[in-house]
Amino acid sequence: MLAVAILAAGKGTRMKSKLPKVLHPLGSKSLVERAIDSCNLVSPDRQLVIIGYEGDKIENALNHLQRVEFVQQKEQLGTGHAIMQLVPHLEDFIGDLIVLNGDVPLLRPETVEKLVKTHQENGNAATLLTANLPNPTGYGRVFCDQNNLVTQIVEDRDCNTAQKQNKRINAGVYCFNWQKLREVLPKLSTNNDQQEYYLTEVVDYLNPVMALDVDDHLEISGINDRRQLAVAYDILQARIKEAWMMAGVTMIDPDSITIDETVELGTDVTIEPQTHLRGNTIIGDGCKIGPGCLIENSELEENICVLYSVISDSRVSSNTRIGPYAHLRGSVQLGENCRVGNFVEIKKTIIGNNTNVAHLSYLGDATLGNKVNVGAGTITANYDGVKKHPTIIGDGTKTGSNSVFVAPVTIGEGVTVAAGSVITHDVPDHSLAIAREKQKVIEGWKMKSK
Ligand code: UD1
Ligand code: CA
Repeated sequence: MLAVAILAAGKGTRMKSKLPKVLHPLGSKSLVERAIDSCNLVSPDRQLVIIGYEGDKIENALNHLQRVEFVQQKEQLGTGHAIMQLVPHLEDFIGDLIVLNGDVPLLRPETVEKLVKTHQENGNAATLLTANLPNPTGYGRVFCDQNNLVTQIVEDRDCNTAQKQNKRINAGVYCFNWQKLREVLPKLSTNNDQQEYYLTEVVDYLNPVMALDVDDHLEISGINDRRQLAVAYDILQARIKEAWMMAGVTMIDPDSITIDETVELGTDVTIEPQTHLRGNTIIGDGCKIGPGCLIENSELEENICVLYSVISDSRVSSNTRIGPYAHLRGSVQLGENCRVGNFVEIKKTIIGNNTNVAHLSYLGDATLGNKVNVGAGTITANYDGVKKHPTIIGDGTKTGSNSVFVAPVTIGEGVTVAAGSVITHDVPDHSLAIAREKQKVIEGWKMKSK
């Protein structure tokens, strides 16, 4: 049997935040969710999250993960004390226990798998991940004998000058034989600078304890402050972007681009500078996105160009061009080969194929057919101050510049709406609708003089 315990009870004082540290987001997920995810490959039988500071917030945030059990650590007396709280919960548990610090979010599932494998193959009492860091400041230092067995872990603040020279650090990622760990927990002291029960002290009593160096020390980066959070975000982004570039995506100035790991990209997609792709977004083959776009929870088919625009919760069909400066939101569906141009906002609207909304428009709660031409400055007045109402515009209709549709209103197919019209009544197919004051010309008119 395999269980995982995640240490998430601390406040994270160095974050200087009202939010508990492990709930800070790193891209699309919180730190603690990422810690849980790093055990995906070893599929533990039990998942325990140790909570204390603002524990309800953490419980709420992890509500959607049904299998997680919460263990209370009322007072945070150290990482060893946190593990002591597991004892009543793992009374009958026989097997290995993975322990992860909740603030180590970049750990790869493959690395956790390797840790467990090494631990089990060698029959260790404990196995822990270590790394040689160019700058080990802040981390506990791991001391080993000639057989690579751990003899001691000394926290940074407890190290003497000679010990500080050791660059081999404790990643805060362990696999323990639970029976053996449980036996030695009562031996922990608070004999250290912070007067806390340190989990790391158990290596003094367990045997054998093996250290496993990680190949890529970036993945064990711990987050203690917001500077480290930003560095971790960069590491995560580099991983995501590198993988997409290797899969056939071109990025111009990748440093200025961000992509959530939930995003999917087709082949020959080009992403231009200052573009951000978030949530459940899918971008089809041959699309060119950017510069300057934010696309979230949206699906774009093939060969779509988007320039300086924001698209949320929408679907766009192939060969459509969007922008510059367009905003699609609230489940818009755009057909094939359409054009949505400069300063156009579209909300909760369905648009057919080959339809153009090229300049300065607002379409809300509308349904437009195929081959509609929406003239510059066309607006749907969809809100009467209480409710939103629909506007329907049929195939092949042309709306003149600066027309207003006062919803609810239905415009038929092949209709021409004269420029500057305020349309308040339905218009039948193949007709001309004109709703404006006739132009008056008074010849030879002069302004009065004083
Ligand atoms: C810890 C390790 C250190 C290691 C480093 C790696 C100890 C004593 N030290 O130090 O050797 O190099 O991680 O990142 O373990 N927590 C609780 N309850 C507590 C105290 C802490 O749940 O009473 C949780 C925190 O919420 C956090 C994790 O344990 O998620 C680690 O605590 P933190 O104080 O950040 O330990 P470090 O000083 O980083
Ligand atoms: Ca830490």
